[in-house]
Amino acid sequence: MTNINTLKTELTTQIEAANDLQALDDIRISALGKKGRVTALMKTLGSMTPEERKTKGQELNVLKNEITNQLKKQEKVLKKVEMEERLATEQLDITLSIRPERKGHIHPISQTMDELVTIFGAMGFTVAEGPDIEDDWHNFTALNFPPGHPAREMQDTFFLNNPAKVEPEQKSGDTRKLLRTHTSSVQIRHMENNEPPFKTICFGRTYRSDWDMTHTPMFHQMECICVDKDITMAHLKGCLTDFVRAFFKIDDLPVRFRPSFFPFVEPGAEVDIGYFKKGEGIKLGLADNPNDQKWMEILGAGMVHCNVLTNCGVNPEIYQGFAFGMGLERATMLKYGISDLRTFFDSDTRWLDHYGFDPFDRPNSATGQ
Ligand code: DAH
Repeated sequence: MTNINTLKTELTTQIEAANDLQALDDIRISALGKKGRVTALMKTLGSMTPEERKTKGQELNVLKNEITNQLKKQEKVLKKVEMEERLATEQLDITLSIRPERKGHIHPISQTMDELVTIFGAMGFTVAEGPDIEDDWHNFTALNFPPGHPAREMQDTFFLNNPAKVEPEQKSGDTRKLLRTHTSSVQIRHMENNEPPFKTICFGRTYRSDWDMTHTPMFHQMECICVDKDITMAHLKGCLTDFVRAFFKIDDLPVRFRPSFFPFVEPGAEVDIGYFKKGEGIKLGLADNPNDQKWMEILGAGMVHCNVLTNCGVNPEIYQGFAFGMGLERATMLKYGISDLRTFFDSDTRWLDHYGFDPFDRPNSATGQ
């Protein structure tokens, strides 16, 4: 009979030398399988005397247990090695490459619009839209510029050749379509299509036949309309003052209302903000010395004319409102220190890289803007 100790040493050497799980399994079968060497020895116990069987039986059980344990131990070692090998070779890259948006910038005009939505959104205003190509009714007549009224001449209009659909209310007036000269046309569309109260702002491109240092044929405006029962000039002044101070981020920015004429408001006003000279440039705000206080106009405003309300089917006996309109380029230039209006439309990416805004850092009501 094979010497148990020799068999043990032989198997132990084999187990320690096994360098993969398949080899180890082969050893297990050759030792402990049905036809294995240890199993074969176990089978010889039956033909032994009871005393022999007792001692050999014990010895064989010890051998079997020991080999089983060694196999388990080596299996653990080999599994770990195998896992380490897989970890080292099977690398899965689950990160995404960075998105290209980081390269782009938000145009200062878009930034200003987003800031205005944030400020007016916090005051409960909604945002409306209207078309760039308008008809005479929405751009002029409904806004109380009757046909032939000299105030139409204040706005050098681009007319298109195709005729507009003439509204029944239009009576006379120009039948050509035109590029809207102001966003006040959206006031009309909004009031025609909705029921008061209205608390709405709108943005958009506007067009006038002008081209010099401070005028471009296309520019942007913002319009605001607020109509409800019992709206007074005090609401207009409060809303505008809060708005310009929030927009320019100057809590004590001086705001001045100067009487002015626009056909669609009565009374009408131009709104100025205070600035003073500082070094070579200017600074918005309250001057230390009242004699140094200077004013610049930034927007037109007023109480909506009763003819305008009537033209839009709103009863002026019940409803009143205020409105204002502001040029976005000028406000943006003042806020961000951009000196030349024409650069807004040059499409120069170096300019945009300098004056543009991070697309991931948008104005919101938590940051104010
Ligand atoms: N539409 C005027 C313009 O373009 C600006 C304006 C003035 C708008 C007074 C208004 C307003 O809503 O009430 O010059």
